[in-house]
Amino acid sequence: MPVADPLTTIGWEVFEALDLIGKAGYLQAPDGRENHVLIAQQFGRARLETLGALATRIRRISKDEAGLRYLRGIMAGRRAMLYFTQPSSRTFLSFCAACQILGIGIGEVRDTATSSEFKGETQEDSVRTFGSYFDLIVMRSQLGGLAERMAWVLSNTTRPVPIINAGSGKDQHPTQALLDIYTLQRSFETRGGIDGKSVAFVGDLARGRTVRSLAWLLTNYRDMTLYFVAPKELQIGSDILELLHRRGVRTVLEEDFAAVIPKVDAIYMTRIQDEWDAQPGASGKLGTDRYHFTAAHLAQLRPDAILMHPFPRRQEIAVEVDRDPRAMYWRQMRNGMWIRCALIASMFRREQEIESYDGR
Ligand code: NCD
Repeated sequence: MPVADPLTTIGWEVFEALDLIGKAGYLQAPDGRENHVLIAQQFGRARLETLGALATRIRRISKDEAGLRYLRGIMAGRRAMLYFTQPSSRTFLSFCAACQILGIGIGEVRDTATSSEFKGETQEDSVRTFGSYFDLIVMRSQLGGLAERMAWVLSNTTRPVPIINAGSGKDQHPTQALLDIYTLQRSFETRGGIDGKSVAFVGDLARGRTVRSLAWLLTNYRDMTLYFVAPKELQIGSDILELLHRRGVRTVLEEDFAAVIPKVDAIYMTRIQDEWDAQPGASGKLGTDRYHFTAAHLAQLRPDAILMHPFPRRQEIAVEVDRDPRAMYWRQMRNGMWIRCALIASMFRREQEIESYDGR
């Protein structure tokens, strides 16, 4: 019989040294649900479809009072800890809202200066403390790999609780990628789904973790073409390109944004992540205004294409563009709340209760 938590069977150093695919093999329970959500490589196509359908079901149930009350009972009495030591508004609040929809109580630490880490406590001890009081830990950190370490630590305690990575360093943001996929599923529902589509990623692809996670999830679909549009200095990492090629995805690296706009089904705009600049202001000198989507670009965008952005936005998309029906980013954000509900409900094996609701 497969082990309920494979992370109990491997030492930290050996796990840490695995590649992403290797790691993904240690994060699922025997029934295919995630013991922890750390990296996009954990999600295959069937799982993406199940989660999308569950999110839609939850969204429909929530449309009236009786449904909202029913959903609040699904996980009543459970508690989640939101441990966000890196700035966040959307992801933090969407996890908050998702927990509230399912009736989960929440606690939060948003600044290590207000926790005992300030007194010199290790992050391992802090997270173990959260694990003593809560049933789920959602964490965001500027340290790449921290969520992985914490997941391994917790799995190897007497009270293992799941960790969801809500953004780690420059490397991964798996739940953002889930909401992006859910948005693409919904947008292309009547156009044969995501298969065969072309998606352009634009902006800071070197340091944007949302792009790295989503690009991987798109390898679950057939006949995909991904355009990476950025100044040379901010182009996507060769590690990701290699993974994509191994999975048969066509990739095009491009510097000329205007040339790509009419060719694609979806454009995924991103912010310049200048908080990572080695020299403050360095990326401001790269002429990144060329990678802004303006109202004038709308005429070049295909009539059935969509425009996405993980937010926060600066000037990457002009505010006038918001009124265009192809501007999907506000709906995309709201989709995050639904897919996070679905993910949490499924990790705690509550699908049956959701499916069996007969109010609508
Ligand atoms: C992103 C992030 O934190 O990686 N935001 C988000 O979670 N939606 C993108 C960014 O900061 O640019």
